Amino acid sequence: MTTIAPPPFIPENAPFSSAQRAWLNGFLAGLFSQGGVALPPNSTPAATVNLTVLYGTQTGTAASLSRGFVKDAKKLGFAAKAMDMAEFSADQLKDVTHLLIITSTYGDGEPPDNAKALHAELLSDAAPSLAHLEYAVLGLGDTNYEKFCACAIEFDERLLKLGARRIYERVDCDLDYEAAAQSWFEGVCAVLKGSQTLPQPVEIEPPTIRESPGYGRSHPFSAPLLENKVLNFPGSAKETRHLAFSLAGSDLRYEPGDALAVYATNCPELVDDLLRVTGFDGEEAVIGSNGKEKPLRLALLRDYDIGNLNRGALEKFSKFCRTPELERLLAPQHSAELTTYLHGRQWIDLVTQYPILDSRPADFVALLRKMQPRLYSIASSLTAHPNEVHLCVGIVRYETHGRRRKGVCSTYLAERIETDVPVFVHSNASFRLPVDASRDVIMIGPGTGIAPFRSFLQERTCSGDTGRNWLFFGDQRSASDFLYREEIESLQKNGSLHRLDLAFSRDQPEKIYVQHRMREQARELWRWLEGGAHLYVCGDASRMAKDVDAELQRIIQKEGAMTSEAAADYVVQLKTLKRYQRDIY
Ligand SMILES: Cc1cc2nc3c(=O)[nH]c(=O)nc-3n(C[C@H](O)[C@H](O)[C@H](O)COP(=O)(O)OP(=O)(O)OC[C@H]3O[C@@H](n4cnc5c(N)ncnc54)[C@H](O)[C@@H]3O)c2cc1C
Ligand SMILES: Cc1cc2nc3c(=O)[nH]c(=O)nc-3n(C[C@H](O)[C@H](O)[C@H](O)COP(=O)(O)O)c2cc1C
Repeated sequence: MTTIAPPPFIPENAPFSSAQRAWLNGFLAGLFSQGGVALPPNSTPAATVNLTVLYGTQTGTAASLSRGFVKDAKKLGFAAKAMDMAEFSADQLKDVTHLLIITSTYGDGEPPDNAKALHAELLSDAAPSLAHLEYAVLGLGDTNYEKFCACAIEFDERLLKLGARRIYERVDCDLDYEAAAQSWFEGVCAVLKGSQTLPQPVEIEPPTIRESPGYGRSHPFSAPLLENKVLNFPGSAKETRHLAFSLAGSDLRYEPGDALAVYATNCPELVDDLLRVTGFDGEEAVIGSNGKEKPLRLALLRDYDIGNLNRGALEKFSKFCRTPELERLLAPQHSAELTTYLHGRQWIDLVTQYPILDSRPADFVALLRKMQPRLYSIASSLTAHPNEVHLCVGIVRYETHGRRRKGVCSTYLAERIETDVPVFVHSNASFRLPVDASRDVIMIGPGTGIAPFRSFLQERTCSGDTGRNWLFFGDQRSASDFLYREEIESLQKNGSLHRLDLAFSRDQPEKIYVQHRMREQARELWRWLEGGAHLYVCGDASRMAKDVDAELQRIIQKEGAMTSEAAADYVVQLKTLKRYQRDIY
């Protein structure tokens, strides 16, 4: 291994102001002063690096991160492009010299939909040798899931096995991904800069976390609440709410398929309980998530996740209070027991069971994860409702270990909106209406999965799209859980909704779900698909989306008279052509 020499400073005659030149020189020097940057001996210092950034994404985070990195890479003088994994095959890797993979993980440690085909290709025996390739992988995930960043790990390990050279260690990011992702990118750039001659950069600005100007993740808009009503009727076991917010004065724009991210505050009673159990009075100064001092109570209300536990939280806590019982539970051989212990337990349970009465508030806060915004599929179209955004939210309440629990954000939206709500738009280019407005669309969205389809239908109706619309909706009972019933029936009457299939699971002795309705309509569904229809699924990822996917393959196999392999290929093709898209959670 050879260590990279620092890059040349920006010459005096480069087209920058002295301040820009000073910043750039500082930035490059900073990158190289981190010390850990090493290149393998056979790297080629003189050639211009052509960087391909492949993203695997379900809800758009990896895509926007990749596009942002490509923009910054170009500013640093690299030739770079971001590509959707769905549009990329393993064979194309023969023309790639420098590859960055940025991917999330979904389901039970699975690749996101757009990464499935490439992932399968690369993991198969037919995968090409990649001895010519230099690469680095960034994982996006959530430590609440057992298979944290599994897809990124698999890509990373497989590329190495196929002979590619890893130029930078993989970083696996938790939901709070920005700083870790940025530092990974800077590290990768530092390595790459050692192997190329840079053309003059055209424009440079400090490499901050990217965000479109205006309101965003680190600067949410305070949206006034316009409407908050329960959509279920008496007799329902559920509480599903329609919420409308004003975006007036924000310049925030969204497209059908996007999500709204909401910053909630924790339940004040839970915060009070936590203070009581920990013995703090809440006035102690601690560091908030923005790095500034604030009273503990405020930090617990707004800045930190005091809800559900995961392995990471327990590991930190166990080190903090040195409890043999927890240490035992965390041993690899007790992972099943750990899962059982974690299920339904929260911070309040932990500090009740293992008191931390003599601790400093700052040490306790250091154990907590930052509060994360929750995403909600947008249920309105700006064309139909200028300056408004609507959501359809299922309120989460349950009881575990003798305590009534409240989902942080959903119950905040249901019960506690006292001032305007901090929001930003989370763009999701992986869930979009067909560009060709004459295409038919099939929408499968039981429960709150109806949300983006309300948006789709509003948009298609207002825009006069000529393609037909087919909705599969389901919930528990038709009398109490037919969300947006009047709207849907009126769309049917005025001819905007061409087909509607309903599945109410508890209206009859046997359970009927949307996948059963799909089976009943198999021939027609196949006709629509063969006619070029786009198919969308939104809602529950754990069961519904899997059952719908299995039914879709069955229908294609039967109606298309195919083998199961050919049907699976057909589905892959639909995904590649962006005619099968899922917004599942
Ligand atoms: C892209 C995307 C789009 C989404 N769109 C929507 C939408 O349109 N509408 C919508 O309502 N939601 C939507 N969600 C889900 C939403 O983001 C939140 O996850 C949901 O509202 C719960 O958040 P919360 O803060 O209320 O609950 P949290 O405080 O996050 O608690 C939820 C957690 O509680 C635990 N839990 C729940 N029930 C039980 C139980 N019975 N026993 C034990 N543990 C339990 C589980 O660990 C669960 O993950 C979407 C999510 C994504 C990623
Ligand atoms: C339904 C669902 C399943 C998920 N499964 C996993 C998982 O198994 N492992 C993991 O590390 N992250 C998991 N995540 C978290 C996502 O990978 C994470 O939110 C990521 O930032 C999303 O990036 P994307 O928007 O590019 O898809 C899951 C998220 C959702 C909504």
